[in-house]
Amino acid sequence: MCGIVAYIGPREAYPIILKGLKRLEYRGYDSSGVALLNNKLQVYKKKGKVAELEESLVGKDLHAHAGIGHTRWATHGEPSDRNAHPHSSASGKLAMIHNGIIENYTQLKTELIKKGYTFKSDTDTEVLLNFIEDIQKNNNCGLEEAVRIALKRVVGAYVIVLLDKDQPDTIIAARKGSPLVIGIGKGEHFLASDASPMIEYTKEVVYVNDYELAILKADELILKNLGNEKLTPFVQKLDMEMTAIEKGGYDHFMLKEIFEQPETIFDCLRGRLDAEKGVITMAGIQNNIEHLKNASRIIMIACGTSWHAGLVAEYIFEEICRIPVEVEYASEFRYRNPVIHKGDVIIAISQSGETADTIVAIEKAKEMGAFILGVVNVVGSSIARISHAGAYTHAGHEIGVASTKAFTAQLAVLTMIALKIAREKGTIDQTRYMHLLGGLHNIPEKVKEVLKGSGAIQQLALKYKDAGDALYLGRGYNFPVALEGALKLKEISYIHAEGYPAAEMKHGPIALVDEHLPVVFVATKDTYYEKIVSNIQEIKARKGKVIAVISQGDDIISKMADDCIIIPEADELLAPMLSVIPLQLLAYYIGVAKGCDVDKPRNLAKSVTVE
Ligand code: G6P
Repeated sequence: MCGIVAYIGPREAYPIILKGLKRLEYRGYDSSGVALLNNKLQVYKKKGKVAELEESLVGKDLHAHAGIGHTRWATHGEPSDRNAHPHSSASGKLAMIHNGIIENYTQLKTELIKKGYTFKSDTDTEVLLNFIEDIQKNNNCGLEEAVRIALKRVVGAYVIVLLDKDQPDTIIAARKGSPLVIGIGKGEHFLASDASPMIEYTKEVVYVNDYELAILKADELILKNLGNEKLTPFVQKLDMEMTAIEKGGYDHFMLKEIFEQPETIFDCLRGRLDAEKGVITMAGIQNNIEHLKNASRIIMIACGTSWHAGLVAEYIFEEICRIPVEVEYASEFRYRNPVIHKGDVIIAISQSGETADTIVAIEKAKEMGAFILGVVNVVGSSIARISHAGAYTHAGHEIGVASTKAFTAQLAVLTMIALKIAREKGTIDQTRYMHLLGGLHNIPEKVKEVLKGSGAIQQLALKYKDAGDALYLGRGYNFPVALEGALKLKEISYIHAEGYPAAEMKHGPIALVDEHLPVVFVATKDTYYEKIVSNIQEIKARKGKVIAVISQGDDIISKMADDCIIIPEADELLAPMLSVIPLQLLAYYIGVAKGCDVDKPRNLAKSVTVE
């Protein structure tokens, strides 16, 4: 969480930083600010979204060739002008932005208060900044050395970026735990939480690693470790186009991303799945197939929507690979002294590849000897780098805070991994294997069909937008889809929604059912069909309003439900990639109908880089 941008070079820094902050708003948007260095060090900050900062700066002298900017998701201190970044040091000589949490900030703050420091904000960031300034004063050293000394005392996660009034040609940055990308231009450097702010200026980037310090001048990049040894920057080619970060005619990124799913699933399968020949090519899986097929247990670790993808995968892996699977919330797994054996395989699932809880859970499992397979969307992200092996989801840049296309791509990749392992293990017969490969191959076309029904879903949204609560029910492969549908509705429209296994509903949630409660059933044709028909009866008997996602040709539920959304038939193992799409659309259209900011829902952030 929190987005950072910086620029140094011949161009005007402010417009680059402002545009960059708008692209990084998905990382947090409760306040924002910039610091510009041009003989004097000017800091401007404002509570609210970046547009509010922009408005407040109209008419100001913003001329500078070096600057830093920040968009915040509050951790320490409420969202306010005062707590917004950048922060200025006590002397006013330094300005700093920070993404992460300094865990021992209370201790550092107490030490500084004893020395007479006072603080303008409630943030851990201001504490670290003054700690750095104090070291600079006491040791009579430059900023670079002071940062190095300070970071040896710091416990926590950070990317920090600093400007020093006395060194107007330099920006200093350091990373541990939060993402940091440097863009290398001709006589200029860019720096940000991800590559989107620099994409139109350069394709050459360096991903900074943990415990590294970057000293940036317009025409020079020096990378060092905290031991002051110079490192050779590993320059990579950026594989991202401008279209990936534009709305392309859609009203919102979320809608664009929902509609991109036929292509993103196709991209995910492309070059990997050959349904005719019956071949799945995935180097990361093939090269580690012994580990995978001999796994005594698979543990899926993830958060949020990615956790739901893990739940679907649990059903798939157990069914066709016959390997026991557990699905863990990363945050819970890490702190409960988990039992890990050498033969265990961890599949870490993450869109951003930067989720702090998932990262620390992976580190823990790695220490304990598990093999880590990353299923990640963002290329070069932290999780991609700390995993032993992996498979990218290739869903492209996802900007809408609520995850959509990343989820279906995760399902596609996890299905291919399961099929590959099952094939190698011999736990799937040839006919079923070929049938599933063919089914997977056809998914992008079927997603197109589902999307054709968006108009009807928009109408449905108008009918149900004023609901106070909603229940989402499913069984088997569609149970995690129900959870995901409920999560989407909560995130986007702020309607309280719960997902439940349809049968479990009898053990509690049924008490909520009355004529006002919309109950969304994910009830495609599968093994559980007859049972879910009974569950629908149970809701109808209590006057609940039933909205059902059903398969084409269903003439039973279509007569029982108040409203139906019909999707093409697919094997039950593949159906979640289709059945989730109407639920994404329903949440989206309800959110829009209620006037919510669907791309930036309140209190959320896309990339949660704090534990
Ligand atoms: C945040 C996002 C969710 C996402 C979750 C996990 O909560 O708002 O959309 O599912 O983080 O993120 P990851 O990047 O690890 O998939």
